[in-house]
Amino acid sequence: MKVDGTRRPRWGKRRWRTVAVGLPVAVVFFFGIVHIFNVSISLINVIKDDPKPPFPSSWGPLKQFEPGEDPDLTGLTRDVTPIHCHSHNDYWRRIPLYEALKWGCTGVEADVWLFDDDLFVGHSTNALTRDRTFASMYVEPLMRILDRQNAIDPDFATSEEAAKNGVYEVDPTQTLVLLVDFKNDGHAIFPFVSAQVAPFREKGYLSYFDGNSTIPGPITVVATGNAPFDYVIENATYRDIFFDAPLDRLYQEPFDGNPPTMDPKPSANHPTIDLELHRHAPLRTKRESGQGTVGTDPDSHFDLTNSYYASVDFKKAIGWAWFGQLSEKQLKLIRGQVQGARKAGLKARYWGTPSWPVGLRNRVWDVLIEEGVDYLNGDDLRAMTKLDWGLRRHWGWLG
Ligand SMILES: *[C@@H]1O[C@H](CO)[C@@H](O)[C@H](O)[C@H]1NC(C)=O
Ligand SMILES: *[C@@H]1O[C@H](CO)[C@@H](O)[C@H](O)[C@H]1NC(C)=O
Repeated sequence: MKVDGTRRPRWGKRRWRTVAVGLPVAVVFFFGIVHIFNVSISLINVIKDDPKPPFPSSWGPLKQFEPGEDPDLTGLTRDVTPIHCHSHNDYWRRIPLYEALKWGCTGVEADVWLFDDDLFVGHSTNALTRDRTFASMYVEPLMRILDRQNAIDPDFATSEEAAKNGVYEVDPTQTLVLLVDFKNDGHAIFPFVSAQVAPFREKGYLSYFDGNSTIPGPITVVATGNAPFDYVIENATYRDIFFDAPLDRLYQEPFDGNPPTMDPKPSANHPTIDLELHRHAPLRTKRESGQGTVGTDPDSHFDLTNSYYASVDFKKAIGWAWFGQLSEKQLKLIRGQVQGARKAGLKARYWGTPSWPVGLRNRVWDVLIEEGVDYLNGDDLRAMTKLDWGLRRHWGWLG
């Protein structure tokens, strides 16, 4: 077609306008399609896979056990491979605690509220009921499970000093993290949690710090939410409630090459000043609340004499996964935080990772595992335990 010289500039302008508007639309459209495709793929997997039900058929239809009502515990964790998944708000599961154990999760979380001198479990105050207490939902069932795992036929008894078995039959050295999320006044809740886990303490079921090193046990009590760090470290010679350290404050500039190994001998009086730490955690001036803040100061030092998990809100610390992808900067942040946690001997955990769409959630989980986080945090236990955890890494108590 012949185009005369005077019209050519107009055609050009219009074409550029089309490109300027059309290109972004095409890009958005393209990523939209990719995203829908991703989500569909993961949905197909969820529909297709129908693994064996997590409970023996003798348990009958799944139902919520009434607190205090004992399901048949025989073989509860037989054949279960413990992996490092953390059952977020575990009391939301149809069968709190047991479901997490059956899937092999080695961390369960209970939100506790202090009212009338007792600890009640629930996400918010209007979800609380008299019978759903910390003792009835977690302490008592765990005592029954552990007593059974540690019942010794007198004919085979060797020594009273023998290490106690954990909840998992295939690996009795695997500790179970009981993450207690302090919902209201942390300083007021602390002595109640300490008193209510006394039955574990008396039977030697707790991991504890003896003033020199941390001795692992079947249950590791970790305090989060408004849990006060100053109370956790108050006693220098004995601790059995560990802190959920602020993962973002442990950041260390990541380096390429082999992942760092943990400090062979962390100690409570470790005077290292981490400059990165201060860059990423500005001095706190106002009174803080929430995970990893209460009772801490800018000089607080977190290691395995006082902490177990090192956690942070994924959305707050890392941000959004735009178009389902994490940027190089975000990956570097994760790498540096995980590295800092490792160095301190703590287990890195992100909470508040995207839970929907499923494709995005799985992608973020994959990245986190790839980057070496120690615990996945989530509500969908089946999905977490079915992920490819690489070598099915799995740690003993001293991990
Ligand atoms: C302190 O712990 C180290 C290992 O962590 C051990 O070798 C040493 O014997 C312990 N010291 C005391 C006094 O218990
Ligand atoms: C620390 O705890 C131990 C064991 O409960 C206790 O015997 C000791 O008196 C406590 N020390 C302090 C300074 O409170």
